[in-house]
Amino acid sequence: MSIYPPKEALWWKTPIGKSELVWVGVALVWCLFMFAFMVYWHGAGKQNLSNEAYRISAEDFSAKTKAMVDKYTVRQYKTKLGTEIPVVHPPAGGDVYLTARLWQWWPMLELEKDKSYRLHISSLDWMHGFSLQPVNINLEILPDYETVLTTTPDKAGEYTIVCNEYCGIGHHTMMGKIFVVDKK
Ligand code: CUA
Repeated sequence: MSIYPPKEALWWKTPIGKSELVWVGVALVWCLFMFAFMVYWHGAGKQNLSNEAYRISAEDFSAKTKAMVDKYTVRQYKTKLGTEIPVVHPPAGGDVYLTARLWQWWPMLELEKDKSYRLHISSLDWMHGFSLQPVNINLEILPDYETVLTTTPDKAGEYTIVCNEYCGIGHHTMMGKIFVVDKK
């Protein structure tokens, strides 16, 4: 029994058992398979995007988001909780900022179909999960880092951003919108 020390004092000199070797082999093969699958699924799964990440302070990110909101807000969206959140229509081809904070995605974005954008997302407090529905794109959003992705929405419609990392009492209310519209 393993709670007692081995009877043989030089136990490390006994040859490794066959069944143990087989298990080590199985585990190794499985690890390699999972590792290869991780790479394969990045392309085949179409859920994990090739994004970039940079360090940025909450103050700087907040200032950039606010500058965009001040310049390009086109209307207000009233949530079910009664909060008004600006809807921003930034110029196509440019940088777009989306802030995660307790418990909002701020602002809402209106993007043009078939136009490319640099979408920057960061958190002002702690970790949130960006989950775009119904297309099921998922990104982890962390404070002090901005996640940047180059994206070209190819289908008009209303997309909902839900938070998929538990972030506190208001987690379930943390919903945002991305509206993809035909060119104006
Ligand atoms: Cu933010 Cu959960």
